[in-house]
Amino acid sequence: MQSSKIAGIGYYVPKNVYTNDDLSRFMETSDQWIRERTGIQERRFADRYAETTTTMGVEAAKIAIERAGITAQDIDFIVFATLSPDYYFPGCGVLLQREMKMKEVGALDVRNQCSGFLYALSVADQYIKTGMYKNILVVGSEKHSFAMDFETRSRNVSVIFGDGAGAVVLQPAAKAGQGILSTHLHSDGADAELLAMYYPGSHANKWMPEQPGYPEQELGGLFMTCEQLESGAALPFMDGPAVFKKAVAKFPEVINEALAVNGLKAGDIDLLVPHQANLRISQYVQQLLGLPDDKVFNNIQKYGNTTAASVPIALCEAWEAGKVKEGDLVCLAAFGSGFTWASALIRW
Ligand code: ACO
Repeated sequence: MQSSKIAGIGYYVPKNVYTNDDLSRFMETSDQWIRERTGIQERRFADRYAETTTTMGVEAAKIAIERAGITAQDIDFIVFATLSPDYYFPGCGVLLQREMKMKEVGALDVRNQCSGFLYALSVADQYIKTGMYKNILVVGSEKHSFAMDFETRSRNVSVIFGDGAGAVVLQPAAKAGQGILSTHLHSDGADAELLAMYYPGSHANKWMPEQPGYPEQELGGLFMTCEQLESGAALPFMDGPAVFKKAVAKFPEVINEALAVNGLKAGDIDLLVPHQANLRISQYVQQLLGLPDDKVFNNIQKYGNTTAASVPIALCEAWEAGKVKEGDLVCLAAFGSGFTWASALIRW
């Protein structure tokens, strides 16, 4: 089977920079609190109206496609990972297909939150390996700013996340041993509600606890009242300490799994690009794996946590900075809501 390689990569982040001090204008927080606990110094927020998850994905995709030396017309499949789609349905894949005037190719949306890009990459890799497609566009894009609360009650969540997009074009690798060596996907739904956004979802009890007199009609019509919306019932929830504990266990596990399957060890990694969840999580994982600073790439300081976009944005910045060269062993890893976690080993 022919493996797949990243033939082009691009990223896009919105122009609007919000520093930690900017956030402290809206809520009780401080630069010191955010830096010490997350490493984040600033993040980008999309324009409320002019930019969407899809438009940012399009910008990243244009760069990836150009760098792959092809045109949008050559793309034969789209995999779009996001937890913040433009619409509840349809997904962003078809919106990107329309926006980029692509052929009537298949467009698949992947959820899987912070692991979304690696799940998407894994799906695309299988299609290349089977010979079904030759130019697959894989996108991770997020517009978190629209659904976060910038008041003190949600400050543990809203200081962490940022907006942006990354994209790659996967093609069959030209040489044996080049490209994606393996991908590894895992999940454990036992703690699904510890990092979640319940609304709008069919599990109405999560956001609309049953109460006398409501709903008045037998079917449908189950909408939030303004009071309920204002109470914060529709906001993302995160049990920060629980996420931290699970992440620092699963990141090394799934990285070591990838290394073992390929007969490699941590010392063979030229660059680890972890999902930018939190700088403390990345540093802890680095320490557990015994990797020096120059073998781990972090940019959460500038962009915050962009969930499904964080791995391709970081990989692209690392590549643009010359930190990824032909022949290098690159390890991508992610952990997030679900919980889901994943890794990919790439011979560049
Ligand atoms: N600014 C100032 N104070 C805050 C803020 C804030 N932004 N957020 C919370 N606090 C306060 C709390 O109200 C609390 O105050 P209290 O002691 O008076 O009640 C105090 O800080 C401690 O709150 P905790 O929630 O216990 O804060 P903790 O020290 O655990 O840090 C954090 C929170 C940073 C989220 C931490 O739990 C963490 O790093 N968790 C990992 C989760 C994570 O990184 N998720 C990333 C997204 S998910 C993913 O990508 C996998």
